[in-house]
Amino acid sequence: MSKVILSTRSLRKTYGKRDSKFDALRGITFDIHEGESVAIVGKSGSGKSTLMHLLALLDKPSRGEITLHGRPTAKLKSRHLNTIRNKEFGFVFQSFFMNPNDTVLNNVVLPLKIAGVGFRERRRRAIAALKTVELDDKRNNKANDLSGGQKQRVCIARAIVNDPKVLFADEPTGNLDSATGDKIANLLFRLNREKGITLIIVTHDQELANKCSRQIRIKDGRIVSDSSGEFEPDDDGDEEIDEIVGDNNIDGMLDKNHPTKHIKIEEGENE
Ligand SMILES: Nc1ncnc2c1ncn2[C@@H]1O[C@H](COP(=O)(O)OP(=O)(O)OP(=O)(O)O)[C@@H](O)[C@H]1O
Ligand SMILES: [Mg+2]
Repeated sequence: MSKVILSTRSLRKTYGKRDSKFDALRGITFDIHEGESVAIVGKSGSGKSTLMHLLALLDKPSRGEITLHGRPTAKLKSRHLNTIRNKEFGFVFQSFFMNPNDTVLNNVVLPLKIAGVGFRERRRRAIAALKTVELDDKRNNKANDLSGGQKQRVCIARAIVNDPKVLFADEPTGNLDSATGDKIANLLFRLNREKGITLIIVTHDQELANKCSRQIRIKDGRIVSDSSGEFEPDDDGDEEIDEIVGDNNIDGMLDKNHPTKHIKIEEGENE
């Protein structure tokens, strides 16, 4: 098997304090290998987006450890975390949607601007990324004027413009009709095959999950199955959490109200 890229050990996440305390993750342990395509599935409220945000180093666990390339991440300063995210990760999250009044091209170059890439080079790379998603012809359009599927493709172009190692996608086909959803899915798997990008996809779409090389099912903050066969139950599941490292979101990058709440699906409808 290829190298482990991301690992979690006994990951827990508690939101709120005292009366409003809620254990969203209750002991999550797994390894993700380079080149895998991993679907994280489970009912609404089971903790998928919470887990995704922790894996993407956008939020900190209350307990447990996340390692990236074998290195612990807990003590990294936010500046360093920003650099890691900028260099190694791509995001297809609804919260990281584009600046609607700016052009498609300007939206796509953004991660490169943050990384300090020069004007010509970032333009060249952004155009290449837009070609990959077949939207090169829309580069000067206002982002807001695109269709839903096109906007999603712009998000993918922006997510891959930095040549990330890992691409995180939270419900990438969520708001799309099935034909457009299929196109997005094919694009993601092509990136996985051709560029070796590791995919971590949260989805309610079972067809999309079936296309992934691995499915991890979450229920009430715990893993209940892992198709890789790696899964062993965490036996410290019911331990009380008394120390909350923080439910702060790093650098205000995330909306406090999880973005996925926009597409909240009622309990019981998604499986
Ligand atoms: N910032 C927060 N403060 C308090 N509780 C939260 C917060 N974010 C999430 N939760 C709670 O944690 C649980 C897990 O939420 P999460 O967003 O991870 O679920 P999900 O599996 O992604 O659901 P969905 O499929 O609806 O997107 C839910 O019960 C949710 O209400
Ligand atoms: Mg969610």
